[in-house]
Amino acid sequence: MKSQYLFLPMLVLFYLIPVYGISQLLEKNLAPNTLDIDYKASPRPDRILITLTENPATEIMITWRTDSTVIKGIAQIAKVEKQNDFYKKAIEKPSTTTVITSLENENVIYHKVKFENLLPNSAYTYRVGDGTYWSEWIQFRTSEEEFTEPFQFIYLGDAQNDIFPLWSRAIRGAYKKAPNARFIIHVGDLVNHAQNNYEWGEWFKASGFIPKMTPTLATLGNHEYIKDKSGNKLGVGNLWAPQFNFPDNGPNGFEDRTYFVDYLNCRIICLDSNSDIEAQKKWLIKTLSDHHKQWVVVFFHHPVISAAKGRANDTVLRHWKPLFDKYKVDLVLQGHDHVYGRGNMVNPGLGQGNKDSGTTYVVSVSGRKMYSLSNHPWMDKKGENMQLYQVITVNKNTLNFKAYTLDIH
Ligand SMILES: [Fe+2]
Repeated sequence: MKSQYLFLPMLVLFYLIPVYGISQLLEKNLAPNTLDIDYKASPRPDRILITLTENPATEIMITWRTDSTVIKGIAQIAKVEKQNDFYKKAIEKPSTTTVITSLENENVIYHKVKFENLLPNSAYTYRVGDGTYWSEWIQFRTSEEEFTEPFQFIYLGDAQNDIFPLWSRAIRGAYKKAPNARFIIHVGDLVNHAQNNYEWGEWFKASGFIPKMTPTLATLGNHEYIKDKSGNKLGVGNLWAPQFNFPDNGPNGFEDRTYFVDYLNCRIICLDSNSDIEAQKKWLIKTLSDHHKQWVVVFFHHPVISAAKGRANDTVLRHWKPLFDKYKVDLVLQGHDHVYGRGNMVNPGLGQGNKDSGTTYVVSVSGRKMYSLSNHPWMDKKGENMQLYQVITVNKNTLNFKAYTLDIH
């Protein structure tokens, strides 16, 4: 569909990592000697996070973590009312659990509960626990049934390094700028080492209450994969799947890697650009063609055309870009290159030079690791050596995209 923009500025889950020949790998995934945060599980629920399902108007997925002493997890939910006795009307559901053995040799339990049959366009509050230890009551909202007024969402590039000391400012700045954002898209490399429980602890500590209240959508970066000493990808780290319960509507074998969410007038598509690029094409064609949404946003980790020096992702360019052209994708959100680049790549045959007619591609970074920019001509706007966050405002006839550096209050 035609887009108009107003631009203001093998799935292998390693539940038990094999010990052979990867001692170096293990070391990198262990906590540092100097600890800034407490990252270990306890009976108290932590790493509480909500994700969207296929039905954002009537459902929510809640995930949290405890240690292995908590046998029975519970989530309670109630509609928010003016009066303060809402909790008396709360309903509850038991959690479905997954046991993970961490590299620190501790068994931890990931809990998930999906609440269904909620009312559209409504505020709800929930808490999770085991009957003895409880989280606070946490509020979120369901979406309207149909698009009626503009809404916002947040897009964040790679966090990856020094997540607690330096990325905290980015996620919190984004939330402060758009506190009513309906969801947050992370385009991969949330951490530096897939199995590193400490780094995931940093991610949650930096995020604070934000992922408890604002649904997370995320794609896999190369750093969410486990690699051998030669850098070959062995599979997705064991902390990904139990933490992120994304809609199960991708191709077979791509659970929690490839999925889509229809949010009001947008189709939001998540792809895994790490591998099996061709294997996702058939599903991608179907997903790009079988809807009547006004806007299509696609996100994945490796850019179609790199924005940094000496990096290229030819398979993504060769297999996916022709589909983005054919089906007139409006916005493609990417990461991996640790610079900022934005450009409007005009679709062949759709009026070369008309900046409003092509797919807009963005590469961005929210963490502290920085690379050098390339001079690829596709970028209309570019920047290096700065952390950013982005707020997208969705309207009936415009997508308004704003990128912010962290010095903007
Ligand atoms: Fe990356």
